[in-house]
Amino acid sequence: CGIVAYVGERTAYPILIKGLQRLEYRGYDSAGIALINHGTKVYKCKGKVKDLEEHSKGKDITGTIGMGHTRWATHGEPSDANAHPHTSMNGKFTVIHNGIIENYAHLKRELTARGYAFQSQTDTEVLANFIESIYSENQVDAELAVRLALTKVIGAYGLVISCIDEPGKLIAARKGSPLVIGVGKGEYFLASDATPIIEYTDQVIFMNDEDVAVITRDHLDLKNIQNDMLVPKVQKIELSIDEIDKCGYEHFMLKEIHEQPHTISDTFRGRISMDQSNLFLGGITDVLPRLVQARRIIIIACGTSWHAGLVGEYLFEEYARIPVEVEYASEFRYRNPVIYADDVIIAISQSGETADTLAAIKMAKESGALILGVCNVAGSSIARETDAGVYTHAGIEIGVASTKAFTSQVTVLMMMAFLLGKKRNLISQEAYEELIAGLTQIPDKIQEILSDEQYIKGIGETYKDATNALYLGRGNLYPVALEGALKLKEISYIHAEGYPAAEMKHGPIALIDENMPVFIIATKDKSYEKIVSNIQEVKARNGKVIAVVTKGDDVIVKMADHVIEVPECHEALAPLVTIIPLQIISYYIAVLRGCNVDQPRNLAKSVTVE
Ligand code: G6P
Repeated sequence: CGIVAYVGERTAYPILIKGLQRLEYRGYDSAGIALINHGTKVYKCKGKVKDLEEHSKGKDITGTIGMGHTRWATHGEPSDANAHPHTSMNGKFTVIHNGIIENYAHLKRELTARGYAFQSQTDTEVLANFIESIYSENQVDAELAVRLALTKVIGAYGLVISCIDEPGKLIAARKGSPLVIGVGKGEYFLASDATPIIEYTDQVIFMNDEDVAVITRDHLDLKNIQNDMLVPKVQKIELSIDEIDKCGYEHFMLKEIHEQPHTISDTFRGRISMDQSNLFLGGITDVLPRLVQARRIIIIACGTSWHAGLVGEYLFEEYARIPVEVEYASEFRYRNPVIYADDVIIAISQSGETADTLAAIKMAKESGALILGVCNVAGSSIARETDAGVYTHAGIEIGVASTKAFTSQVTVLMMMAFLLGKKRNLISQEAYEELIAGLTQIPDKIQEILSDEQYIKGIGETYKDATNALYLGRGNLYPVALEGALKLKEISYIHAEGYPAAEMKHGPIALIDENMPVFIIATKDKSYEKIVSNIQEVKARNGKVIAVVTKGDDVIVKMADHVIEVPECHEALAPLVTIIPLQIISYYIAVLRGCNVDQPRNLAKSVTVE
């Protein structure tokens, strides 16, 4: 979900609405605001921010203090009543909340017994009433009531709270769900990420877990739940307005697909020596000896980042000869896994905030293993929790379906694998230089694929009414098949499965008929002959084959229904080029089906609940 709040001299409403639009990528099933001006006015409804604007038309939108929320439902379906903000029964406290209060049922039972009634099914309304009950029964001020309540709460939260008796003030608290404070002149901003803040100020404070901020127009107190005062660390944020603008593209996803030649260059920039003979990964230099000696690498991630991890598995095993396991963070953390002190754990996360990934690394810390992060968002929770790491530098990614973050993650993993291979004396200097040079040529190759966009769109048109699709690949292109299938299902709602091409025979082949598009990644590498056989197996069952092939391929072109050519590259680097046409085709199929590409139903960009 997205949070934005303002305390200052300007009218809060337009700042909140604009902020919510910027944050809509974090959740978009309902939206709401509270404006504080001689009392608290709450406007909220199911739907998007534009529905909220419609809903607020003609109403009193004055007030220089306020908070806004855009929701991704956890407790309770998307509805007007379940939208945030939530106000306590006697109107004392108004709350917006990201995260989950796990002991809400217990708290709700206690409050119900004491006469509290509830309008919604949310855990947030329970929290608002819980704070109010402490406030009223103990005759304490709002801040103490909040802190006392939070000591009893189990779960995760990013919170903004106002109390009707203390009108000039907002109280914010964080545990497990990010909050950033923007520091202006005579004004403060609060948000779940910096996007709503940057057009007003570049001075920000990232709140830490268990921090509580008490904010008025001209004063900020930062403390912990136990009431110890903290010194706020104000930082300058490097994020430009262009980065959060569509810049003429119809969707953020299309813009981000097109940015990849640049974002991949940004990922390797400054990390390759001038003569292209060596790689430097500054963020892990100090821990490199431990990485070189690693007994095993365990990669933990979710979603697209997990697919990047699977590419990493092939690379680390091939080039560095270190055994690798790739784990879903949500499974790993609850499985009592065996972790040795000389293992290295790599957490991959675009946002750096995914709750399961964060919890998995916290759990793994006890083992004494070295924990590294591959994150896109600088200063994010995972980046801070890890011992060291390599930022992907892909720039902010707003489209919910990840594209440029994936290719940057893969780029980082490639550099790590090549560097480790070299340090472990498993690859020659010549081979190392060939890989590095190959990497530097990838942006131009992607540019070439992007110039075929209209042709790829045309293929998408042919298959836009499919109900199922299969994606096949082998070796390091098997994760690309998984990622291609994920892209299609996320944004077009066509059921799609990725499979190792040879494994198709053990199940999915039963699904193949003349209505089944089968996307096969079949570039020239050591399994080329095998994948050609797999294509024949599909064609023998009348499946429709869309093959991603190496430019100039004259074998598959005769067998497949469509071919998409990609420039030749080193087989280690092929995931970076072969995913591009699959991103493009998913994008256009979704657009042609009339889907909301940037905000697909039920998904959220950053999943800060487990
Ligand atoms: C959500 C997003 C995906 C993303 C996954 C992991 O499901 O919709 O695009 O891959 O979370 O996110 P992370 O920020 O940890 O990479």
